[in-house]
Amino acid sequence: MPVKAQMQVPLLDLKAQYADIKQDMDQAVHRVLDSARFIGGPEVVGLEEEVARYCGCPHAVACASGTDALLLSLRALDVGPGDEVVTSAFSFFASAGAIVNAGGRPVFVDADPRTFNLDPHRLEAAITPLTKAVIAVHLYGQCCDLTAVKAVCDKHQVFLIEDAAQAIGAEWEGRRAGSVGDFGCFSFFPSKNLGGAGDGGMITTRDEALSERLRLLREHGARPKYYHSLIGTNSRLDALQAAVLRVKLRHLDRWSEKRARNAALYDQLFEGARLARPFKDPRTRHIYNQYVLRVPDRDGLRRHLTDRGIGTEIYYPVPLHLQTCFAPLGFQAGDMPQAEAAAREVLALPIYPELTDQQIRYVAACVREFTDPL
Ligand SMILES: Cc1ncc(COP(=O)(O)O)c(C=O)c1O
Repeated sequence: MPVKAQMQVPLLDLKAQYADIKQDMDQAVHRVLDSARFIGGPEVVGLEEEVARYCGCPHAVACASGTDALLLSLRALDVGPGDEVVTSAFSFFASAGAIVNAGGRPVFVDADPRTFNLDPHRLEAAITPLTKAVIAVHLYGQCCDLTAVKAVCDKHQVFLIEDAAQAIGAEWEGRRAGSVGDFGCFSFFPSKNLGGAGDGGMITTRDEALSERLRLLREHGARPKYYHSLIGTNSRLDALQAAVLRVKLRHLDRWSEKRARNAALYDQLFEGARLARPFKDPRTRHIYNQYVLRVPDRDGLRRHLTDRGIGTEIYYPVPLHLQTCFAPLGFQAGDMPQAEAAAREVLALPIYPELTDQQIRYVAACVREFTDPL
């Protein structure tokens, strides 16, 4: 029997966000159009300074995407053929793709079954004399165990890159994501807590020399113009994006707090339900880029919610070690059991700040209708 959705709840509603800040956004865009300064300039420099301050890191270098933030960081460390870079088996593709694009070899570590982040207890076993860096992902907006990960990196003298694409403003024991490792890589993809009107990225670092190297690499290694000391690429952030992001950055904490309140309401409504709620590590500030449930019949639940007008997403259906393009690395199903189980069972619910309590109650009721039938 066809079901009638009582309301529509999309996974994300960027039109609602725009309606809230329209005047400031339109002004910012017009400011750039009037200035005709589209590449570099005060908007980009202003955003770099503001993100550096926000992340508690002295330097921030804007670039074209979160993927490029990872790639430029690896290039800045001279990662290349013969180098291994350790990362999580359960992440967005870029965390591993960037390693191969830099010329290195990805080495995967299984996920912690509660946070879905890289399991720090398995990290040390993945380090070899060829390891040059670790890319530690802060999945869904919650930092991985940076104390444990950094201790292993320091012990083995390998670089630590934080993939904070989903975690701007997240904290580990009071320190902002991106301020603990050698680099913090951020994405401004529109669905992120701080999302642009297109692609964008940023790299934070405490090391001034490395920040200068990143600036060179993102502009074909040229300084002065047309004199190339390095082979870099074109990975600049547009002034239009920077202007939009500067407006949004002023609202970021309010939005992330609202996401956390939405998560708390879901948590309460799922009390006693036959599902696993997201685990929040008490040592973190979780910014809830995603609110991810874990259920055995994930695909059934997804269909049930789609029929009721509710948007959901699977982040991610295939763990990285089993992606077809990585077949030459020789992994088999069963090699990373936690990442593989997560890929079968996770489902992200709408969590965006503009959600009303009524929408959250509706989503939770529909979930429980499926997981806890009377
Ligand atoms: C964990 C993670 N790393 C890297 C990226 C890449 O960012 P971008 O899409 O801006 O290239 C993303 C984007 O979704 C991500 O979630």
